[in-house]
Amino acid sequence: MHVASYLPSRNLALDLVRVTEAAAISAAREQGRGDKELVDQAAVDAMRTVLSRIDLDGVVVIGEGEKDEAPMLYNGERVGNGNPPLVDVAVDPVDGTRLTAEGRGGALAVIAMAERGSMYAPGDLVYMDKIAVGEAAAGSIDINAPVAANLHNVGKAVGKEISEMTAVILDRPRNQGYIDDVRAAGARITLIGDGDIQAAIATCVEDNGIDIMLGIGGSPEAVTTACAMAALRGEIQCKLWPRNDDERRYAQDHGLDLEQVLTTRDLVDSDNTFFAATGVTTGPLLDGVRFGGEHTSTHSVVMRSQSGTVRFVKADHRVEWVEGDVRP
Ligand code: FBP
Repeated sequence: MHVASYLPSRNLALDLVRVTEAAAISAAREQGRGDKELVDQAAVDAMRTVLSRIDLDGVVVIGEGEKDEAPMLYNGERVGNGNPPLVDVAVDPVDGTRLTAEGRGGALAVIAMAERGSMYAPGDLVYMDKIAVGEAAAGSIDINAPVAANLHNVGKAVGKEISEMTAVILDRPRNQGYIDDVRAAGARITLIGDGDIQAAIATCVEDNGIDIMLGIGGSPEAVTTACAMAALRGEIQCKLWPRNDDERRYAQDHGLDLEQVLTTRDLVDSDNTFFAATGVTTGPLLDGVRFGGEHTSTHSVVMRSQSGTVRFVKADHRVEWVEGDVRP
């Protein structure tokens, strides 16, 4: 399927940022109201509205779930206005719905694309074990190796002692083993409540002090993250993480290999990935949406792997014209 006519030749990421800006603004309007569903719905509606205006023929590979659970942006849904390029689409209208609903920082609206047929579909297996690092340490991680060995090798690559390194870990009981191992090895930890896409990207941003991301998080987020890591020249390795025997059987029935190490390339088999994210609430990478009198401001990052271009975009939107605004 990787023939020239299917390759998006323009920088789609610049269109995609309009999609994430709209989703972030709509989600941020519901910030702190304690209602996750409301946050998600607002972002989904806005994302879908703006997507329908963009020149692309997309299939949602990483979406809001199967069609019977998700009326919009479900896996398999066609998005875009139907014109080329033909692409696979990964959406996370809000990575950090709970953070937004509770009025906490670190939530992003995210979308990623690559050529049709290039994205890994994890099916019903909702979790993956993950390890991610930035460019300087790419090539020095091994998800099957002990945590101490990974910290040692990454430290060597980035020129730090283990005691000077920081690992970011999603704060979940299932990640306690990682927390214990990092502590035993002598590195520092930043625990996050949600949002491991932003955490993985943080390993690629110089001078923010995050050296490695470790732990079990969402499978959809892994594929979306891979689209960013390809552009940032970082590395992510994952393994499917079944929660129970039903999921083990599901993997067997669907030919999903639980021992396979899924590399960045396995998660998205493309040299031309596009990624855009807009801050919903302020985090380590992006500022959240700010509502002013006449203007609403947004802060986004857009990336393309072919060129390796990473752009940070600050935008002021006039309140009477916010694209994708679905308020009644
Ligand atoms: P959503 O906001 O999209 O629900 O995801 C937040 C998140 O923290 C992801 O960043 C992470 O990969 C996943 O949830 C972890 O899943 P769980 O909350 O079930 O542990």
